[in-house]
This record gives sequence, structure tokens and C-alpha cells, in this order.
Amino acid sequence: MEKKIRWGILGPGTIAEKFATGLKAIPDAEITAVGSRVLQRANTFADAFNVPHRHGNYVDLAHNPEVDVIYVATPHPFHKECAILCLEAGKAVLCEKPLTVDSEQAEEMIACAREHKQFLMEAMWTRFLPIIVKVREWLADGAIGKPRLLTADHGSRKDLSTETLEGRLFKPKLGGGGLLDVGVYMIALAYMVFGAPTKITSLAHIGETNVDEQASILLGYGAGQIANLFCAIRTETSKEACIIGTKGSIHIPEFWQATSATLTRTAKDPIYVKIPFIENGHENQAVEVINCIREGKLESDVMPLDESLSIMRTMDTIRSQWGLEYPPFDSVL
Ligand SMILES: NC(=O)c1ccc[n+]([C@@H]2O[C@H](COP(=O)([O-])OP(=O)(O)OC[C@H]3O[C@@H](n4cnc5c(N)ncnc54)[C@H](OP(=O)(O)O)[C@@H]3O)[C@@H](O)[C@H]2O)c1
Repeated sequence: MEKKIRWGILGPGTIAEKFATGLKAIPDAEITAVGSRVLQRANTFADAFNVPHRHGNYVDLAHNPEVDVIYVATPHPFHKECAILCLEAGKAVLCEKPLTVDSEQAEEMIACAREHKQFLMEAMWTRFLPIIVKVREWLADGAIGKPRLLTADHGSRKDLSTETLEGRLFKPKLGGGGLLDVGVYMIALAYMVFGAPTKITSLAHIGETNVDEQASILLGYGAGQIANLFCAIRTETSKEACIIGTKGSIHIPEFWQATSATLTRTAKDPIYVKIPFIENGHENQAVEVINCIREGKLESDVMPLDESLSIMRTMDTIRSQWGLEYPPFDSVL
């Protein structure tokens, strides 16, 4: 059996727990270290996931020789400096989505990975879900003819409570707002179906904490294809995606964490496919990282860095249409 790939977890918060749970289900992976800004939080996480090395800062984690790859799971404004810290320390990096807050930061992070010849990938976990792999097969086989229209939405109703106002979603200083949090899922899906858009039109409501609370985004493409996307943090929506082609359509409930999809074609019975997760769906992206590292690849063909950068540029354009800018971010190092 090949040597296990040793993972470090940077920023043991909400998503890191889910990722670690997924990772535990993969026999080829082990979590050897965790780094938090506060040692007690690293200890709590390490106890829960049986992690031997606990660090009370991110720098020591990045330099731990018992780690091959680091999963960066801080709020997005800190992705760049944390990922660069790890890349410069000679570690591969899986960085949570969105890759950064804007394309300038993404360019810097990607340049660092390339300069140091380290693997880097945006943790766009949706793209690696087995049912989404199946959807890509249907698209490649022409099952729905030529895709013409994508509709997708991801909106959740979060109330403005003391707790939510303290969290990252409503804080500009933590990169708050729906676009960067969940809009990125739909934009990445649109890239998967159509590639980079040639036209970008959008409208947002910027709420009282100065982040985008809901937004509609229209992406247009060379041959007239359209993606009609909606994201929100103050409005609950169905979180579905539908890809409509010249000969049929693909419907994906809960597309960002999908386990099923239905293929509907003209004059044929619909095909419903369900592929459950091994654990919680976060494990699939980790398998991709492990395979890439073992093959000596510096990026994934499924979620390439130029595509993550292009997605960031599209989101820059969308935010500029709203006049939404973030204040300078603090350092977490
Ligand atoms: N793939 C998915 O399904 C998914 C879901 C949710 C979020 N995400 C992405 O994952 C990232 C983290 O999201 P999350 O919801 O897990 O965030 P979170 O729980 O608010 O924060 C994650 C961790 O980041 C660290 N951190 C560093 N600087 C911080 C600061 N100034 N304020 C707060 N925390 C700070 C904290 O760990 P220590 O202080 O202990 O080091 C915290 O526990 C985001 O980029 C988000 O877009 C992905």
C-alpha cells in the first residue's frame, strides 16, 4: 500500500470539522496536525479527530515536517496569506472556496504555488461529487444536446441576530456577503457547463451591514447561452440547478451538495440517478488532491488554477457593478 498522505488543518472552524469528518473516511489519508490561532481550539479539534500534532499558531503548522498537504479553512480574507505561508514552507495546499477575496489576491497565491512548484487547488467540493461527475459525463456525451440555459440558486435565510452579526457572513472585514460565500458555487457550475462568460450583468441588495444580502447574476456566452443565477444570505431558496439543452435537461436538487440528478430527454423516459456520499461529500475533493500529489501534478485538471482565477475575475466584475468593496483586512499570522 502506498504511504498515506498526511494532512494538516489550518483554521479549525465550522467547515474544517466537516472536511475532517470526510477525510477520516479515506484510507489513504491521515490528519497529522492542526493549527489554530488559539492552542485550546487546536486541542479541542485534535481530541475530536485524534490528531497527534497541535499548534497554537499557523506558522508552526506550516513548518511541521509531519505534514504533506494543508487544508486552509479560514474565512476568505485570510486564504491568501495562509496559503502562501504553507506553499513557501513547501506544503501542498487545498484552499477553501472562494480561492481568495479578489483576483489580485488569487494571482499572487497562484504565482506563489507555481514559483515554489507546490500543488494548489480551490476546494470547490461540488465539482468532485460523484453525481456531478455523472452530470459531466451526460454533458460530454451530448445527452441533452447543446446546453443553452443554466438556472441555479443558493439562498439561505439568516436572521440578523447577535450571533450572525458576529460571524463572517455579515462582516465586510471577514469578506461577508452571499456572492463570495455561495454565489461562487453557481458561478463555478456555470464555468463547468459553459466556460468563462463573455457578458456579465447583475443586481444586488447591499444590506445594513454593507454586504450583499441577495443578488441576481446573468452570465452570457458566445453562442447565446445564458446562466441565470441567484444567491442570498437573507432569502431562503430551493438551491436547485437545471441545465437545459437542445434535446433535454438535467435537474440537480441541492446542486452544491448533490447526491442525485434527473436526466430528461425528448421522447424518452427520465433517468433518475442517486449516488450517495461515502461520508459527507468532502472526501471526494481530498481524493483528487491525494491522486494529484501522488502523480506529481501541481494542479487539478478538474478544478484548474486558471479557472479559479477566472472565476475570481468574474466575481470582481460583479462586485464592481454593485460598488461593493471590502475594507483592508487584518493579518492572522
Ligand atoms: N465547502 C463548503 O461547504 C464550505 C462551507 C462553509 C464554508 N466554506 C468556506 O470555508 C471558509 C471558512 O468558513 P467557516 O464557515 O468554517 O468559517 P468560520 O468557522 O467562521 O472560521 C473558520 C476558522 O477560521 C479561523 N480564523 C482565522 N481568522 C479568523 C477571524 N479573523 N475570524 C474568524 N475566524 C478566523 C478560526 O480558527 P482559529 O482562530 O481557531 O484558528 C475559525 O474557526 C470560508 O472561506 C468559506 O467560504 C466552505
